[in-house]
Parts: sequence; C-alpha cells; structure tokens
Amino acid sequence: MGLAVIVLAAGKGKRMRSEIPKVMHLLAGKPIISHVIGLAQNLSESAPIVVTGYRGGDIRASFHTENITWVDQKERLGTGHAVAQALKHISKEDTVVVLYGDVPLLRSETLMQMVSSLGLSELSFMTSKVADPGGYGRILRDSEGHFYGIVEDQDATGEQLAISEINTGIVVASGSALARTIPLLAADNCQQEYYLTDCVKLAHELNIPVGTYELIDATEAFGVNDQAQRSQAERTYQRRYAGTLMSLGTTISDPDRIDVRGAIRCGSNVSIDVNTVFEGDVTLGDNVKIGPNCSISNSIIGKGSEVLASCVINDSKIGEDVKVGPFAHLRPGAKLENTVKVGNFVEIKNSTLGSGSKAGHLSYVGDSEVGKNANLGAGTITCNYDGANKNKTVIGDDAFIGSGSMLVAPVNIGENATIAAGTTVTEDVAKGHLAIRRVEQESRSGWRRPKKK
Ligand code: UD1
Ligand code: CA
Repeated sequence: MGLAVIVLAAGKGKRMRSEIPKVMHLLAGKPIISHVIGLAQNLSESAPIVVTGYRGGDIRASFHTENITWVDQKERLGTGHAVAQALKHISKEDTVVVLYGDVPLLRSETLMQMVSSLGLSELSFMTSKVADPGGYGRILRDSEGHFYGIVEDQDATGEQLAISEINTGIVVASGSALARTIPLLAADNCQQEYYLTDCVKLAHELNIPVGTYELIDATEAFGVNDQAQRSQAERTYQRRYAGTLMSLGTTISDPDRIDVRGAIRCGSNVSIDVNTVFEGDVTLGDNVKIGPNCSISNSIIGKGSEVLASCVINDSKIGEDVKVGPFAHLRPGAKLENTVKVGNFVEIKNSTLGSGSKAGHLSYVGDSEVGKNANLGAGTITCNYDGANKNKTVIGDDAFIGSGSMLVAPVNIGENATIAAGTTVTEDVAKGHLAIRRVEQESRSGWRRPKKK
C-alpha cells in the first residue's frame, strides 16, 4: 500500500526533428525526463516506473545509477496501452500517479496537493482552464457540472471543441480502479489508440467514483513537443529559479538573462549581472558580485569576492575578497586564497595562489604553488609542459616575477626572490636572490626599416 509513480516516455517526439528521444533533450542542463523522475522521487520512496519505447535502451543507460523500474512498450498504442504495460508493477492497494516524461515543470507541492485532495474519488484527472484548448483532450461535464468523460481533440464535436477546460494528462488513481478499467479499454477512436482518458467513461459504468483537480498555474502542465516549446519551458524554468533566488534576497539584474543548469547557493547580498551561465554546484558567499557574461561551474566563491565581466571559472575555489577578471580563465584546480587579484587574460590551472598574490595581466599559471603576496608581472608564463610531462613551479612568498618571464618547470623560486623582466628561468632561484638572463642590448645607428614594395 504505497504511492506508485508511472512516467510515460515511449514516444519519439517527431516534432523535435531529432534522432534523440524527445525526453532526452536538455532542460536546464539535464534531460527533460530527469526533471520528471526527480518529481517522482520527491513524491514517493518507491522506484518510479518508467515506460519507454523509442530508443529505450539509451534512456535506461543514462539513468543506470538510479533506482528505476523500467517497462518496455514495444508498440506505441496509446497512453492507456502504456499504463497497461506498467500494471504488473502496481498493487490494487497502491495510489498511482501517472506523469508524462515531457511535462517537466510540474511542482511537487501541486502533485502532493492533488494526491491529498483525492477524497472519495478513485480516478482523478488534473485539468486546467486555458485560453487556447486546441490539441488537448476536453473535459466533459453534465448540466450539474459532474465530470463524466474526456474527449480527445481529434474525436471532438464542434460543440466540444469550444470547451476551455482541458486534460493536462496527469492522473491520480487507485491501483484497483486502473486494474478494473485499463483491461477494458478499446481503440475505437479516430487515432485507433488505447486512450487512458477512456478510463473515465469505464469507471462510470463500474460505479468507480471519478474526480478532477484543477491546476491553477497552467504553466506547470506545459508539455514539450518541439524545439520552440523546449526553449519556452527552459525560460519558464529559469525565471522560476531566478524568482526563488530573488525571494531569498539575491539581486539579479534581469531574470530573463540568467541560466542555472544545476544549483546555486547564495549568501546574503549577492548580486548577479546579466548573461551568466551557472553549471553544476556553485556557492556564492555573502556580498559576492558576479559581473556580466560569465560562465561558472562547480565552484565556490568566498565572501566579498568579485568576478568582473566575461570570466570562465570551472572547478575552482576562490577565497574571500578576491578580484577576478575581466576576461580571466580559472580552470579545474585553481585555488585563490583571500585577497588574491587575477586580472585580464590570465589563465590558471591546477594551481594555488596564496593570499595577497597578484597576477594582473596576460599570464599562464599551471601546476604551480604560489606563496603569499607574490607578484606575477604581465606575461609571466609557467612552462609546465616539456612535451611529455607536466612539471611543477613553486614560487615563494613575496617573490617578484618581472614581466615577460618564462619559468621553465620544474623550478623553485625562493621567498622574496626577484626575477628580472624577460628572464627565462631554468634553474632554482634562492631566497632573496635576483635572477636575470638577458642578452646585452645592441644599439645600431642609421637603421632603415623596410619599405613596402
Ligand atoms: C494526451 C491526452 C490528452 C491530454 C494531453 C495533454 C490521452 C489519450 N490524451 O494527449 O487528453 O490533453 O495528453 O498533453 O491520454 N505515450 C507513451 N506511449 C504511447 C502513447 C503516449 O508512452 O503509446 C507517452 C508519450 O511519450 C507522452 C505522453 O504519453 O509522454 C502523452 O502522449 P501524447 O501522444 O503526446 O498524448 P496527446 O495526444 O498529447
Ligand atoms: Ca502531447
């Protein structure tokens, strides 16, 4: 006696014009159906029952780590037929929720409300009143408003087509109501399909009480059928996510220009400028400011830090009161301790910069350990790759690396050492020493530059 959730996802989704099954197209960075599976998991502890058909193997493969009961619908003979394939996993005492794999915006709270307001009815359809009911099944009510059936768009009479109350497709039923009605379904309609919606009329004949649950926010039942609808669903999702962040106090310059493909956690007084894409898990501490046009994934940014325009930050850890950008690239394993400054056209990979250190302009820092308060002049390059292996550069506290220096790893620059501008360092530099390697400057008089022929 539990709550069982069936997810219907056997269709190809022809209108997507893609070989990828419709439910595997992405919404907020993950397959559309994974939002629905998440919903099912929120609703019930028992494994969701997912009905697949078109490229079912591919869908299963990408969820192999999840506890899911997979059901194969070999022929796509309609929504009633799809549910019939899942019945063997349902007991009569169960309460069953039927969801669609291509309806990803439904809220758990709405479904929980629908389940808890089932009352005496044993078969309930989620309905909605919409301005444009075209394409949907219409809800049929008698003169007293009692629900007695659903007619599909293709089968409806002119009068029925005018009904604005539609079937969203979401069903809550008792296991026994499904077990008694589903096997009686016939495909006697213009699509020659076994319609789940016909269970209403059969339930009536069997004196099984039926009901409806009205969805107030119709966007929750929005289904994705083509690329334009996918993009609409994406925007609805993102606007909703931005709304949640704003309700918790985050300043978002424009909720229509933020994309969160994962989850972000924001401290207080965080502000996010336009066109930033967040992926995976991102944490932004109190007072963090994110400038426009950044791409940030799986990273932690500490209190008071600021990321200026157009930075790319992946798998990095940024301390407090750090300044990054504009145009900086932090690659996996970049660790910036408190008050570090990283400026434009600086790339940092698998390296730590100790607190107070600076790399202001045009540098590559890879596989390096930089101490505190070191200064990496413009154009400093750690030459970490010898063509075969990656080697490490160590730079001590308070070191000063002059502009345009090449630090050929493996190499150690001691504390407070100075590297003269333009030096190629191939040997370790002792604490406090100056390293300089330059050819002597020549000066030739009377030099004439080549002229254009
Ligand atoms: C269905 C409803 C309609 C409702 C509409 C809401 C029926 C008969 N009609 O119509 O009343 O207004 O949804 O969007 O239920 N599927 C399978 N196997 C099948 C057929 C469908 O798994 O054999 C899956 C599809 O992949 C999809 C879902 O069921 O996820 C809905 O199927 P679809 O063909 O889109 O139903 P509609 O004709 O839109
Ligand atoms: Ca549909």
